Amino acid sequence: MTVPVKLAVAGVGNNISALAQGILHYADAVAGGADIDALPGVRRGSIGGLAVYDVQFVAAYDIDPGKIGTELYDAMLRPPNNYPRLDVRLEPTGVTVEQGLTDSDEHAGPLSDQIVRLAESLRAAGAEVLLYSLPTGLQWAATAYAEAALAAGVAFVNCTPESVGRDEELSTRFIAAGVPLIGDDLASHLGTSIVHRSLLGLLAERGISLHSSYQLNLGGNQDFRNLRDRGASKRDSKLNALAKAGVQLDRVDVIPSAGFVAHLEDHKVGYLNIEGVGWAGTPVEIDLKLKVQDSSNAAGVIIDLIRIAAAAVRVGEKGFVPAAVPLLKSPPKGHGAYTELEVEASYDSLAARIA
Ligand code: NAD
Ligand code: NA
Repeated sequence: MTVPVKLAVAGVGNNISALAQGILHYADAVAGGADIDALPGVRRGSIGGLAVYDVQFVAAYDIDPGKIGTELYDAMLRPPNNYPRLDVRLEPTGVTVEQGLTDSDEHAGPLSDQIVRLAESLRAAGAEVLLYSLPTGLQWAATAYAEAALAAGVAFVNCTPESVGRDEELSTRFIAAGVPLIGDDLASHLGTSIVHRSLLGLLAERGISLHSSYQLNLGGNQDFRNLRDRGASKRDSKLNALAKAGVQLDRVDVIPSAGFVAHLEDHKVGYLNIEGVGWAGTPVEIDLKLKVQDSSNAAGVIIDLIRIAAAAVRVGEKGFVPAAVPLLKSPPKGHGAYTELEVEASYDSLAARIA
């Protein structure tokens, strides 16, 4: 029998609600006879021998007083989280949300003491992977949670644009300790970045010159509210994602959170505009609207990142794992550092050695 990934999560927001409810959704589907290799919305049925529902939550951290001390499945449904309640049965996980790291020493003591406490909690929970899913823009927190994971010998997955996987000094220490480190910034399952990049790549491939392009995103969840004020790292990361297609960045603008529209809840609406120049200087114009369930878009990728991280732990791989490259907006050394063949070989090595 497969031993499930022992997963700890930092930040019990919409992403965790989408991840946890989705995992139960697929467990039900497979129990009802669905083919594990043909599940709608799943990229890979198995990674390193792990199915999408082979995940056990073992620890959770947050700083929201309404979530701390609460059973994980209750906490993930508390406002301001607004991912929909799916039609799945939520049996208690036995995991109570613990106080997370804070940058003020008012409540929890200096950060270094808190990191030691968090590392002890991760070890006591037997966690294999710590998923970092805090609001964007908290570089101190990303570094501090990564330090706690490193101290505990637990693999780290960074969902946010903060620099962790790209931090060479930190990455060298993860490698020295033999621990996987996966980041940065997850590339949504089917988000504006990949659609934008594909279309710009198509223009280039057809010899249509790019005149100008923009991408505007609207949403009604906390992530959007936060990105309005702290969007700089997200904007850079989205531009990194576009650079993969060799796009001339001086002709493209990206507005990660053009507006917070409460009634959109956890939906995201992305507007893309592309203006090009075709034959004999005549114009080509594309306007496109994309609407997605924003945090499903995250969970569909997180499920692969955590399976990659756990499989890497189990086969003794350390530092960055190339299988994660297509799942990230800002992988270390950029998207061009690994070929598709190397990415596939990385998946194979996670699977081959575990069998
Ligand atoms: P969210 O705002 O719903 O959840 C964040 C959670 O972190 C909240 O519960 C908050 O209380 C908690 N938190 C804040 N400070 C904390 C601390 N110091 N310690 C522990 N917990 C803390 O956000 P989300 O929708 O779950 O997204 C999480 C991250 O993933 C965001 O940074 C987002 O930009 C990133 N991301 C999301 C997507 C997507 O949803 N499609 C795609 C790429 C990246
Ligand atoms: Na989200």
